[in-house]
Amino acid sequence: MVIFKYAVELNKYISARRANGAQIGFVPTMGALHEGHISLIGKAKADNTLVICSIFVNPTQFDDKSDFEKYPVTTEDDIEQLIDAGCDVLFIPSVDEMYPGGVSSVRGYDFGYLEQLLEGLQRPGHFHGVGQIVGRLLEIVEPQFLYLGQKDYQQCMVITKLVAMMGLYELKVVICPTVREPDGLAMSSRNRRLTETQRARAGVIYQCLVSIESKRDTSDFSVVQKECMELLVAKGFVVDYVALAHARTLQPAGNYLKGEPMVALIAARIGEIRLIDNMVF
Ligand code: PAF
Repeated sequence: MVIFKYAVELNKYISARRANGAQIGFVPTMGALHEGHISLIGKAKADNTLVICSIFVNPTQFDDKSDFEKYPVTTEDDIEQLIDAGCDVLFIPSVDEMYPGGVSSVRGYDFGYLEQLLEGLQRPGHFHGVGQIVGRLLEIVEPQFLYLGQKDYQQCMVITKLVAMMGLYELKVVICPTVREPDGLAMSSRNRRLTETQRARAGVIYQCLVSIESKRDTSDFSVVQKECMELLVAKGFVVDYVALAHARTLQPAGNYLKGEPMVALIAARIGEIRLIDNMVF
């Protein structure tokens, strides 16, 4: 695996490989890699001849300074995992490299209503930061395929919109299934910050999603939503939302709708750790 710290060098390498016919699959990450990320690398490898991964803990997408400061950094372990997974290139830039003129010098995008609900409401400025960094990475890497995990459902929608806003019509966004622990907990870099007790309780988020799906033909969503909130609170969570939305648009749905693809989404905090998950049905 070739490692680059500087965009110009990476760009030069990619141009040469592209001139030789390489098809590029790109997996952007913030590091602290787990099986979920590695599944994205695996999918990118199956589809492309050159797989590029980036590791960059992007300061502009953290609305909470302490979350940024405590974000796990496990670079050596990440590099080993990427080599084992057969990743070809790792881009691991510094903040100065990504924001040479300062963070406000990089273009932001207006994602409209997508920024004004769920994660957008709970984490003001978060998607602005995601747009800034993913936009910049796409300009540097110019991949044909971009791989994202479904766990960050709203982020997938925001980035798909970003790709359209940037006019990257040749770029295909591939959304890959959430990889889960045996108890259903969605894999996340933040899971490693859970205490043993918190970790033992965290599977309840998945149980709630399963219950929301399984009751679609027999119950009102408001009833299931209340049950889920109570269960989460009983397990020690502070709930940001238990929501039901139209899967294609993420517009809120007051209740289950027959024959319509829906997504249930949960965000809840246990101690200092905020977890999100979703299920499409
Ligand atoms: O999902 C993430 O890890 C990040 O939001 C991303 C897409 C790498 C942008 O920093």
